[in-house]
Amino acid sequence: MTRTDIIRRLRAAGIDNPENEALILISEVCSISVEKIIRDRDTDYCHPALTQALSRREQREPLQYIIGKWPFCSEIYFVSPDCLIPRADTEMLVYHAAEKLPPGAYFADLCTGSGCIAISILAKRPDCSAIAVDISRGALNLARKNAILNDVEDRIQFYEHDLLCDTEYFLPPDRTFDAIISNPPYVKSTDIDKLAPELAYEPRIALDGGADGMAFYQLILLKWGKYLKSDGFFLFETGFDTAAKVKKLAEALNLDCAIEKDSGGNQRMAVIKDIPGGCHEP
Ligand SMILES: C[S@@+](CC[C@H](N)C(=O)[O-])C[C@H]1O[C@@H](n2cnc3c(N)ncnc32)[C@H](O)[C@@H]1O
Repeated sequence: MTRTDIIRRLRAAGIDNPENEALILISEVCSISVEKIIRDRDTDYCHPALTQALSRREQREPLQYIIGKWPFCSEIYFVSPDCLIPRADTEMLVYHAAEKLPPGAYFADLCTGSGCIAISILAKRPDCSAIAVDISRGALNLARKNAILNDVEDRIQFYEHDLLCDTEYFLPPDRTFDAIISNPPYVKSTDIDKLAPELAYEPRIALDGGADGMAFYQLILLKWGKYLKSDGFFLFETGFDTAAKVKKLAEALNLDCAIEKDSGGNQRMAVIKDIPGGCHEP
């Protein structure tokens, strides 16, 4: 099976960028450099593991789960069907936080999944420390491995916790955060089955944001404000159609909300703070 055969099969399966994916599959599964694969155009790769990986991809299993790791910001993350695959869209939260957190900051990453947001911030900011919370034990196990892989394990504590429950019993008394950051589940429950076939392999709880996609934003703003320092900020990833609703919700709680766009001009991030001199009474 040559690279051209693999590209043809991926294209027939409806994969968007078959050339790129063929290179990644061959390189990762057969441990061959991309340069060598490109140079040796007509090589026949008769590797059983590659045949198996290609069939999985033809079934639209995400490439990231097949190879088991994926880059995010400047770090590499282990990924499995226990966690959402880290997306390039989410990197803007990391860059914003790494720039705006004060020296020695302590922050919370709610709905941490693979841990990518907290870990990449900590990798950029060696003076900071964090807690990371998720309901999924499988995701937290991966996140712990990712913290070790990226050498930040001494500055992060992981908690298995259902954010929809009442008590944050695990929080140290009187500790408050410089930032509360989250990429929560925000797909409307009724939209999940309309998404690309690859999404069916990702954990449903990582996507399902309730009837209007707003359940987690509402809950975090209402319940976690008391854990935020007065000059701290909430930082959320938003969906294309949730940004305006998040802003409305924040403003109804007397908070200031700035929506920021990604490089494609889509509204993808909300930065929420107390209005100076205003009254924040969630
Ligand atoms: C959209 S994913 C984000 C993962 C990661 N932060 C990222 O950006 O790639 C949302 C995460 O929320 C977690 N989650 C879902 N429901 C939860 C709940 N009730 N309490 C805590 N975490 C929850 C899921 O397990 C999943 O890891």
